[in-house]
Amino acid sequence: SVPLNFIGFVYREIRQGLTDIEQMFDLLEVEAEVVDAPDAKPLQIGAGAVSFKDVQFSYDPERPILKGISFDVPAGKTIAIVGPSGAGKSTISRLLYRFYDIQGGSITIDGQDIRDVTQKSLRAVVGMVPQDTVLFNDTLAYNIRYGRPDAPDADVTAAANAAQISGFISKLPDGFQTMVGERGLKLSGGEKQRVAIARTILKAPPILILDEATSALDTHTEQEIQSALDVVSQNRTTLVIAHRLSTVIGADEIIVLKDGNIAERGTHSSLMLAGGLYASMWSRQREAIQAEERLREVREKDDLGVVDRGEPAH
Ligand SMILES: Nc1ncnc2c1ncn2[C@@H]1O[C@H](COP(=O)(O)OP(=O)(O)OP(=O)(O)O)[C@@H](O)[C@H]1O
Ligand SMILES: [Mg+2]
Repeated sequence: SVPLNFIGFVYREIRQGLTDIEQMFDLLEVEAEVVDAPDAKPLQIGAGAVSFKDVQFSYDPERPILKGISFDVPAGKTIAIVGPSGAGKSTISRLLYRFYDIQGGSITIDGQDIRDVTQKSLRAVVGMVPQDTVLFNDTLAYNIRYGRPDAPDADVTAAANAAQISGFISKLPDGFQTMVGERGLKLSGGEKQRVAIARTILKAPPILILDEATSALDTHTEQEIQSALDVVSQNRTTLVIAHRLSTVIGADEIIVLKDGNIAERGTHSSLMLAGGLYASMWSRQREAIQAEERLREVREKDDLGVVDRGEPAH
């Protein structure tokens, strides 16, 4: 029976191998939506000035997402984009990374249209901390090092430190060699985000996109990471997309996106003075924060036994 059993094993292995080969060829046949122009040259990066001119874009021809957006991110400056959910904020970051081609207008980096340069050279100079981080089913070290594959261990550790994730890693039995699971499912949202931040810190790109980079974190960790991100974005061209308006106060310009158009733009103080959409977003957020604080105060007092509980709840 042993040789027969062996034949069964070999048969199964061969079947599986054939299926895998078929799937591989199917994958190879998938055509990339975005392809390099035939005469594409590598991007010549200088100071890293980004410019969007009258950019029009839709995923689906029937539903325009961006209806002619123009703004500049001067070299080394920070521009923030805020606005309601679904306004097209993350779309702007995807377009700069050239995951999609635009239907009208132009996007340039240091005067070169991103459609005229190779995707490889473009993506080498842009670092993105996306809203939903995708991790590889490999170790934490591998996932961080993905930002710069030839980085020495010391740099990986330093990046993890700066992203406030080394404390978590040191508590794991396998440390940096811990497997993160399919798409990183063994990590929490905040941990995944910090891996993405460490990856970007390691890459140290001239142009930085932070999409809700600190949204999945508690307030304390957020503040610590925010200071790490402030260091990384210093003297780098940075595009910040944020829901928490407190993180964009220091931006050189704030762009309020609504229904595919720029509704307002200016510095924090000028937008607050204008009393428009941005100002109303602020007052709403402040109310929410204050309500949260009041709740916490009540809970703390409760813990200390200060609050007279009175009659038991029913
Ligand atoms: N791949 C896609 N195919 C079709 N429509 C899409 C795709 N990705 C996004 N959209 C649509 O485009 C619009 C803008 O999406 P986007 O992700 O840019 O919003 P956002 O401003 O980042 O919102 P949020 O604040 O919730 O992150 C949304 O209405 C969304 O449904
Ligand atoms: Mg988004």
